[in-house]
Amino acid sequence: MLLLNRFCLNVNLCIVIYLVDFIICVNNNGPWVKMSHGQVWPKPMEQRNTNEYYLIEPKNFRLQVLQNNCDDLQNAIKRYKKMLFIKGNNAIKNTISSISDENNNSVKKLDSLKIYLENYCEKYPSLDMNETYTINITHSIGVLTAVSIWGIYRGLETFSQLVYLTEDGTFQVRGTFIKDYPKYSHRGYMLDTSRHFLDVKTILTSLDAMAYSKLNVFHWHIVDDPSFPFESTSFPKLSEKGAYDKYSVYTKADVKHIIEYARLRGIRVIPEFDTPDHTGSWGPGGQPGLLTQCSESDPTILGPIDPTLKENYDFLKTLFTEVKGLFPDEYLHLGGDEVRHDCWDNNTRIVKFMEDHNMSSILDLENYYFQNVFEITNTLNFKSIVWDELFNNKVQLDQNSIVQVWQGDYINRTLNVLESGHYALLSSCWYLNYVQYGTDWLEYYNCDPKNFFIKPEYNHLFLGGEACMWGEFVDDSNVLQFSWPGASAVGEVLWSHTTNETEAAPRLEEHICRLKRRGIPAKPSNGPSFCYY
Ligand SMILES: *[C@@H]1O[C@H](CO)[C@@H](O)[C@H](O)[C@H]1NC(C)=O
Ligand SMILES: *[C@@H]1O[C@H](CO)[C@@H](O)[C@H](O)[C@H]1NC(C)=O
Ligand SMILES: *[C@@H]1O[C@H](CO)[C@@H](O)[C@H](O)[C@H]1NC(C)=O
Ligand SMILES: *[C@@H]1O[C@H](CO)[C@@H](O)[C@H](O)[C@H]1NC(C)=O
Ligand SMILES: *[C@@H]1O[C@H](CO)[C@@H](O)[C@H](O)[C@H]1NC(C)=O
Ligand SMILES: *[C@@H]1O[C@H](CO)[C@@H](O)[C@H](O)[C@H]1NC(C)=O
Ligand SMILES: *[C@@H]1O[C@H](CO)[C@@H](O)[C@H](O)[C@H]1NC(C)=O
Repeated sequence: MLLLNRFCLNVNLCIVIYLVDFIICVNNNGPWVKMSHGQVWPKPMEQRNTNEYYLIEPKNFRLQVLQNNCDDLQNAIKRYKKMLFIKGNNAIKNTISSISDENNNSVKKLDSLKIYLENYCEKYPSLDMNETYTINITHSIGVLTAVSIWGIYRGLETFSQLVYLTEDGTFQVRGTFIKDYPKYSHRGYMLDTSRHFLDVKTILTSLDAMAYSKLNVFHWHIVDDPSFPFESTSFPKLSEKGAYDKYSVYTKADVKHIIEYARLRGIRVIPEFDTPDHTGSWGPGGQPGLLTQCSESDPTILGPIDPTLKENYDFLKTLFTEVKGLFPDEYLHLGGDEVRHDCWDNNTRIVKFMEDHNMSSILDLENYYFQNVFEITNTLNFKSIVWDELFNNKVQLDQNSIVQVWQGDYINRTLNVLESGHYALLSSCWYLNYVQYGTDWLEYYNCDPKNFFIKPEYNHLFLGGEACMWGEFVDDSNVLQFSWPGASAVGEVLWSHTTNETEAAPRLEEHICRLKRRGIPAKPSNGPSFCYY
C-alpha cells in the first residue's frame, strides 16, 4: 500500500513523505491484539504484583484523605470516584471470573484507598514539580502516598487504571506495590489553534486525555499566520481583525478556564506567541509597520516582524506583559521557526539599518531581534522556549532558554544543543499530524531519547519532549481521534522505560478502551479490535 503524506508548516516549507506500508495477515478470529486488564499506561517505573485479587464495591468504596486535605484534592477525588466505576465497555472476557486468590481463598474486598499527602497542596504545577508516588495494595488495604499533590494526581490516575470490570459485572483490583516517578519532567502535548480554531470543549477534553496518559505540559500554539484567536485587552484589534470571525476567539474567561482546568490535573499551560515570522494574522490588527514589506513594488507582500523599529518592541512588551498577567507558568514559548530572511533582505530600509549597525549577515539581524525580545521576557520574569532554528542560526540564547528540536536529523541536532550546555526538548519524532496507515503509535513509541542522549552530563539538560498536533488538517471533528492514543504512546516514552511491542500493545489496547470509556474518541491502533461497549 502506498500512501502520500504532505505537510506544510507554511507555504515555503512543505515536506512530502512516501510511505510503503504492508499488512501482516493474521489467521485467527477475534482482535489482532488481546487487551490486558488492570494494567497501567504509562507503565510504572517499578511494580510488583501479588497473587491476591480484591473485590471493590462501588457503593461502599472510599477514597480517603488522611493527611493534608485540600479543595483541589477533593476535586480530584470527586472526578476519580466517577471514573473508577464506569460500566459498560471494558468487561473482561476470558479472565478471572471468580474472586479468589491462588489458593481459592474466599472473596477479599478492598473498601478504601487511604491517601497520605506529605505536604500542603501546591497551587501551580511547574518544571520542578515532584510527581513521585507509591501505591501499596495488600492485606485488603490500599495506600497511596506522595510528597506533593502532583504525585497524588498521578497516583489516583494509576489506581483508577488498576481497577477493572469483569464479565460478571464486578470491579476488581490485583494486589500490587508500585513506586513510580517520571523519567523526564517536561512531557508535553501541543495543539495549534490558529490553522483551525478549536472549541474550548475540545481543549478541555484534550487536557483530560493528557492526564490519563500522565502528560503534564499543554503547549498552546495559540496564534499563527492564518488566524489570531487570542483576545488582547491592550490590542483588541488583533483578534477583531485577525481571528477567523468573532466567535473564533478565546476570551480572557476561556483562557482562565483552560488554565484552571489544567492546573487541577497537574498540567502546565505554556502559550506560544511565535515571532518574528508566522505572524501573518498579526498584520491587520497590529500596529502600523509591524510586519516587514518584502517587496518594493508590491506593498501587500508582508513578511516577519520588522526588527528595526523600536515601536515594534514596545508593542511586544505590552502584549507579553498582558500574557504574563494571564498565564501563571514561568515559561513563554517564543517560536522563532522558519523566519523568511529573504524578505528582510529585500527591504532596502532594513538593509540600510544592517549596514548602519555593522551587521554583516542576516543572522546578525535575527540575533538583534531576539536580544531585544529576551530583554522583554527577562524584564517580565519569563523564561523562554524556542524552536531549534534559533540555536542553528547562532542566536545568543539565555542560559535558561529551552531549545525545542522539531527538524529532521534530530539526534544530531539535539546532541549539538546539549553539547553547548543548553536545555533541550525533543519533538521531531512525535509529529502526530503525519497521519498514516497502520500501527503508527509504534513509530512514536520506538523513538526513546534515553537511547540517544546517554551521557550523564545530559541528564539535567535533556528535559523531555512534546507530541505536536499541527492544525492544517484537523479541527473539532477529528483532532482528538488523530491525537489519541498516539500522544499516549509518547506519554509512556517520556514517563517510563519503554518495553517491546508484544508487551506494550495489549496495554495500549486496554488504554484505548479506557480512553473511549472516559469520552476520548481514541482511534483503533492495533488492527481489528473490540472494546466491549
Ligand atoms: C482452585 O479451584 C480450581 C477450580 O475449582 C481448581 O482447578 C484448582 O485446583 C484450585 N486450586 C487450589 C490451589 O486449590
Ligand atoms: C520527589 O520526592 C521524593 C521523596 O521525597 C524524592 O525521593 C525525589 O527525589 C523527589 N523527586 C524530584 C524529581 O524532586
Ligand atoms: C505494603 O504495606 C504492607 C502493610 O500493609 C507492608 O507490610 C509492606 O511492607 C508494604 N510494602 C512496601 C513495599 O512498602
Ligand atoms: C523580494 O522581492 C521580489 C521583487 O519585488 C518579490 O518577487 C519577492 O517575492 C520578494 N521576496 C519575498 C521573500 O517576499
Ligand atoms: C561600526 O564599525 C565602525 C568601524 O569599526 C565603528 O566606528 C562604528 O562605531 C560601528 N558602529 C556601530 C553601530 O557599532
Ligand atoms: C551533526 O552536527 C555536526 C555539528 O554541527 C555537523 O558538523 C554534522 O554535519 C552533523 N551530522 C549530520 C549527519 O548531519
Ligand atoms: C518482550 O517483552 C516481554 C516482557 O518483558 C518478554 O518476555 C519478551 O521476551 C520480549 N520479546 C522480545 C521479542 O524481546
